[in-house]
Amino acid sequence: MQIKLYIKTYGCQMNEYDSDKMADVLRAGEGMVLIDNAEEADVILFNTCSIREKAEEKVFSDLGRARILKQGKPGLLIGVGGCVASQEGDTIIKRAPYVDVVFGPQTLHRLPQLIAARRASGKPQMDISFPEIEKFDHVPKSVPIGVEGAQTTHGSAFVSIMEGCSKYCTYCVVPYTRGEEMSRPFADVLREVESLTAQGVGEITLLGQNVNAYQGVTEDGDTVDFAFLVKVVAAMPGVQRLRYTTSHPREMSQRLIDLYATTPKLAGHLHLPVQSGSDRVLAAMKRGYTALEYKSVVRKLRAARPDISITSDFIIGFPGETDADFEATMKLIDDVGFDASFSFIFSPRPGTPAAEMADDTPYAIKMERLHRVQARIAELERRVSDAMGGSVQRVLVENISRKDARELAGRTENNRVVNFAGSSGMLGRYVDVRILSGTMHTLRGELVTRP
Ligand code: SAH
Ligand code: SF4
Ligand code: F3S
Repeated sequence: MQIKLYIKTYGCQMNEYDSDKMADVLRAGEGMVLIDNAEEADVILFNTCSIREKAEEKVFSDLGRARILKQGKPGLLIGVGGCVASQEGDTIIKRAPYVDVVFGPQTLHRLPQLIAARRASGKPQMDISFPEIEKFDHVPKSVPIGVEGAQTTHGSAFVSIMEGCSKYCTYCVVPYTRGEEMSRPFADVLREVESLTAQGVGEITLLGQNVNAYQGVTEDGDTVDFAFLVKVVAAMPGVQRLRYTTSHPREMSQRLIDLYATTPKLAGHLHLPVQSGSDRVLAAMKRGYTALEYKSVVRKLRAARPDISITSDFIIGFPGETDADFEATMKLIDDVGFDASFSFIFSPRPGTPAAEMADDTPYAIKMERLHRVQARIAELERRVSDAMGGSVQRVLVENISRKDARELAGRTENNRVVNFAGSSGMLGRYVDVRILSGTMHTLRGELVTRP
């Protein structure tokens, strides 16, 4: 009988990517099958996130539900991985003693051994160490598209190029949960891209917490940077469109910016989180740039690619953020003209320097600021959607609607989802779509050419 595996993923794309790797490892090593219903599972894994308090709390409430399932099915194996596991370690087992295995983002490839040890010993097992980048050497090759468990939507795939972060922004847990920056060797990245394009994947997203800090070792022992990697990957014949996320404003080298002028395959959308528009707050966050420096990066990007769409993350209510600081953020939003952004209220994370900083802004004021930012961002997003009306966009067809097989969904160059009528044969292909009308997040369009 096959062992049924259910994985719940929280957090960022790095975690989505890791969950696919967990499924790959357990499918190959243990013959498990991935299912999407926790009630029927024999193994339940939670791939957790601790970026904000709310994300972390969700895990414990979901664990409570898994415990009830386990009461009815004593053989059920429960595992906790990801950033909460990395940060909390055996506290998880203390708080939830029915958990069988605890593993970190860097040890997911050891899941088969951890599970075996759990079965043999009858005791919970934990491994949250940060071994050198070995995880990439131990996960089986990606599953082809269309096959259950493939880590791609149609035609598009993520390729992890680095792990961890060494920036230590004062509010952030990532350097602690994922360890310091570690780049994947250059040839490994190229090999994975090659194997994906050979399977028909045309759009590649290079993935990492800080991709533009990439320092990959080549087979000759040289080190190459991110701009070089982008240039080489974009030149690969099977690659039709190239994206990357997330990047840090401090690492936008002129050579990387110049690629927007010379490399049409590089998508005209960049997620470049600024966090705040106040220099005082940026310094307290240790972001390593001023608002002016950020704007100068954006100016250079627009000189290279005039219609580039820039999105950002914002932290609202950082300790000590005054009204004037907040107004500086509002001003930066208008100055830059962001297209779609995420904004969050500062969440003090245990063990980070910002959690110790004096924070006397009442929560109600923070909420008010958040609402203002979100309203302004929504307005700008709306404006971009409206401006897209009537234009013809090159869209990669990624999904078919579950309800109606003639309803397709794809993403434009600037990362907007468009729904339009077509046929399932177009999955994974690029088509031209005329944008009819805009709504906030999803656009409506019609096909103009048939592939
Ligand atoms: N490496 C990326 C983003 C990592 S986390 C970068 O540096 O831009 C994703 C987003 O979560 C961050 O951009 C930030 O806006 C938000 N975030 C991180 N820690 C936070 C905290 N303690 N409270 C609120 N938001 C936080
Ligand atoms: Fe966190 Fe800063 Fe690293 Fe981004 S750059 S992951 S916010 S420490
Ligand atoms: Fe969350 Fe860890 Fe990603 S804290 S955002 S899952 S790196």
